[in-house]
Amino acid sequence: MSMPKAYVYTRHGGPETEALIDLDRPSPGPGEILIAVRAAGVNPVDWKMRQGFRSPGEDERVFPMVFGSEAAGVVEEAGAGVSGFAAGDEVFGSTTRGGYAEYALLAAGVTAHKPAALSFRDAATLPVAAATAYDGLRQLDLPADATLLVTGAGGGVGSAVVQIARAFGLRVVGVASAGKKDFVASLGAVHVSSGPELAERVRAVARDGIDGVYDLVGGPVLTEAAELLKDRSKLVTAGSPQETVAALGGDRVQRARTAAVLEAVADLAVRGALNPHVTRAFPLQEAGAALRAVEDGHTLGKIVIEVGA
Ligand SMILES: NC(=O)c1ccc[n+]([C@@H]2O[C@H](COP(=O)([O-])OP(=O)(O)OC[C@H]3O[C@@H](n4cnc5c(N)ncnc54)[C@H](OP(=O)(O)O)[C@@H]3O)[C@@H](O)[C@H]2O)c1
Repeated sequence: MSMPKAYVYTRHGGPETEALIDLDRPSPGPGEILIAVRAAGVNPVDWKMRQGFRSPGEDERVFPMVFGSEAAGVVEEAGAGVSGFAAGDEVFGSTTRGGYAEYALLAAGVTAHKPAALSFRDAATLPVAAATAYDGLRQLDLPADATLLVTGAGGGVGSAVVQIARAFGLRVVGVASAGKKDFVASLGAVHVSSGPELAERVRAVARDGIDGVYDLVGGPVLTEAAELLKDRSKLVTAGSPQETVAALGGDRVQRARTAAVLEAVADLAVRGALNPHVTRAFPLQEAGAALRAVEDGHTLGKIVIEVGA
């Protein structure tokens, strides 16, 4: 039998550090679940980690590091102390040591059973983009009928924010490039083109004002969006550092990272309220191309890697 494959970075740096290598099947430690991966989500954090951006919990990892932080697949083995999951179960969740691989480890506390009606491809996108969208909307806690402004509304997180906000009964103004107008409108938002003089264009379509902002872009877009708000506590971002958003009176999205949130977003997907809009799927052998597409910064919906398809 051939060795399982994984897509890794061998040191911090650019795309030249990436390689598809043979890697032993990992063994699940306490609280971990080993899965045969069917699909892995691709997110901006993946290339940011390769560049050397670190998040707590990753520090004990050694090179080569497998890319990715979410996957869906079939349980092979559950580690010590894991209950509720058995070999053969179809699951999705947050990986502990990467997801762009034939085998991956999931954190049992951030893993859920995949509903039969949901594809592996769609399920693999929920732990990062959809769960971040859900967490930020819960944090904003806007009343039904309030008007929410979403920047980066055509991307992975933004398209989930628009749809979940609509499911929560909010009115949504979605900022995206002109080419994404029809897509953003199809999600249920009023589209506003990105670019200079954003605030004016937003005011023209939101005559009653903006009650909340969910930012995914940062920089001048975040600053301009913040200025549209009366109550700055109704500003959250996932695309900007805490210092930057705190200086504007807002907050970074606080991630819940629970199985309950995964179940909530999967339920929205099964009910048809949330379509992850996987616009491109690449085989593991082309993981680099999948990552380049996300690193470009102008993704439409979600991109996934499919394994063994
Ligand atoms: N804290 C967390 O837990 C967490 C979780 C998920 C994501 N994030 C972060 O959130 C951000 C968004 O993630 P994502 O997965 O949604 O990324 P994505 O799929 O790449 O989408 C980003 C969107 O931003 C838009 N954009 C890029 N540059 C822009 C500009 N200058 N002005 C206006 N819009 C611009 C792009 O749309 P156009 O093509 O229309 O410009 C794109 O659709 C990233 O920074 C990511 O790292 C954080």
